[in-house]
Amino acid sequence: TPGSPAQPLAGQTWALIFSKLSTRTRVSFEVGIRELGGFAMFLSSNDIQLGRGELIKDTARVLGRVVHGAIIRTYGQSDVEEFAELSGIPTINALTDDEHPCQILADLQTVREKLGGWDGKKIAFIGDGFSNMTRSWLWAAKRLGFELSVASPEACQPPAEFLEKLDAPNVSVTESPAEAVEGADVINTDVWLSMGQEDQKEKEEEFAGFQVNADLLKSAADGHIVLHCLPAYRGKEISEQVLELHADTIFQEAENRLHAQKAVMMALASC
Ligand code: CP
Ligand code: NVA
Repeated sequence: TPGSPAQPLAGQTWALIFSKLSTRTRVSFEVGIRELGGFAMFLSSNDIQLGRGELIKDTARVLGRVVHGAIIRTYGQSDVEEFAELSGIPTINALTDDEHPCQILADLQTVREKLGGWDGKKIAFIGDGFSNMTRSWLWAAKRLGFELSVASPEACQPPAEFLEKLDAPNVSVTESPAEAVEGADVINTDVWLSMGQEDQKEKEEEFAGFQVNADLLKSAADGHIVLHCLPAYRGKEISEQVLELHADTIFQEAENRLHAQKAVMMALASC
């Protein structure tokens, strides 16, 4: 029924404005919007005037008058923030160079489903310590208080100023993947080169020894789970064997994008 609690987006159009590729985020938002009664309009930045230089502030003021919500995947975090401010409509960050908050919500939901919650749990992140995924995990640790141990090569660690601003005693950073994984309940990784960094082959070389594989996981806690936001590069950040052993968790994590994002949109629709 239009307008009923199960269809809070009935009669609404939500735009997905994407400047980077996506499988999970695009599909889960498009399906979620439809399941909530709304219409999803996918706009690749290459297909709209944004792709030939129209400003975010102008795009925001146009779309804010004709659609009811926006989901943005782009490079600069400030672009999402500027769009949110100038459009005046609910605006969801669907990944920037700095953050991937929707993914972390799905990851936390998966931790709760698999382990009963995160209180008292040790979560390890192995990989690029200043990627969008790591930064969103760092903010989540600050907010929720679980132990987070980030293992990254020295050149890819979160900068000291960021950690100072974060001011989270429950967060530690190390160059040793073994130290981070020791006793960990959740082991999480992500690609070594994020979208937009594909030509930085020299960065990739920093990650020798940072693969999540069976050997590394020997010292993890009994009953540990492995998370990967996907897409995965088997043989790089994660071994084929570990990915397949933990496929049930990893694909549940992917499915949870749909459920977590529907909850976010329902909350925004009722504001
Ligand atoms: N994890 C994730 O955001 O995947 P996509 O890039 O396919 O959307
Ligand atoms: N850190 C990755 C996440 C992909 C979902 C990237 O930005 O490419």
